[in-house]
Amino acid sequence: MRYGPVLAAFAALGVAACSQAQDAGSGTAAAPASAPEAPTLSDAEKQAILASYPAPYNTADLANGEAKFALCRSCHTIAPGGANMTGPNLHGVFGKAAAANPDYKYSDALKASGITWDANQLYQWLANPKTFMPGTKMTFAGLNDSKDRIDLIGWLMVETGHKAK
Ligand code: HEC
Repeated sequence: MRYGPVLAAFAALGVAACSQAQDAGSGTAAAPASAPEAPTLSDAEKQAILASYPAPYNTADLANGEAKFALCRSCHTIAPGGANMTGPNLHGVFGKAAAANPDYKYSDALKASGITWDANQLYQWLANPKTFMPGTKMTFAGLNDSKDRIDLIGWLMVETGHKAK
């Protein structure tokens, strides 16, 4: 089984093996209808929120962004009040200082970073977290493709309730 090791790793993290793992990167993954973070906004409302963000995020491909979030789902929830897992819940993360979730034990590196999360910081962080911030405990290899990062960040801003200023 090609995906056996991936699923086993998810299981080892105590997270339900997520069927999207096998779709990661293919651009075809869709969140299951029962995803806890499924918002109550219509597609048109989401597009309107997206359009209010600064370029290039205002033209992000939300479907691709959602598909790419399959790479994050094993460690992060995004619904309001969602659980901290291997990584912290990300609801409301845009506009907040890094390491601001009081119930999550962050690395010293992230606590000392002085970062306030915005789209451009995330754009750099997600390319390669360990290079961007030596000492972080986010063991994510990085998302190389800049278009994928833009799509993911646009989607994440909408889904985590970020309002453009
Ligand atoms: C293998 C688990 C894992 C994966 C996969 C992962 N993360 Fe993380 N993430 C973490 C951990 C652990 C931290 C805490 C880092 C620290 O304290 O140094 C973190 C921190 C973060 C933070 C900072 C949160 C804060 O409160 O300051 C953001 C933003 C983030 N991750 C986004 C993402 C996105 C987006 C993805 C998918 C592209 C992703 N992560 C994939 C484990 C993961």
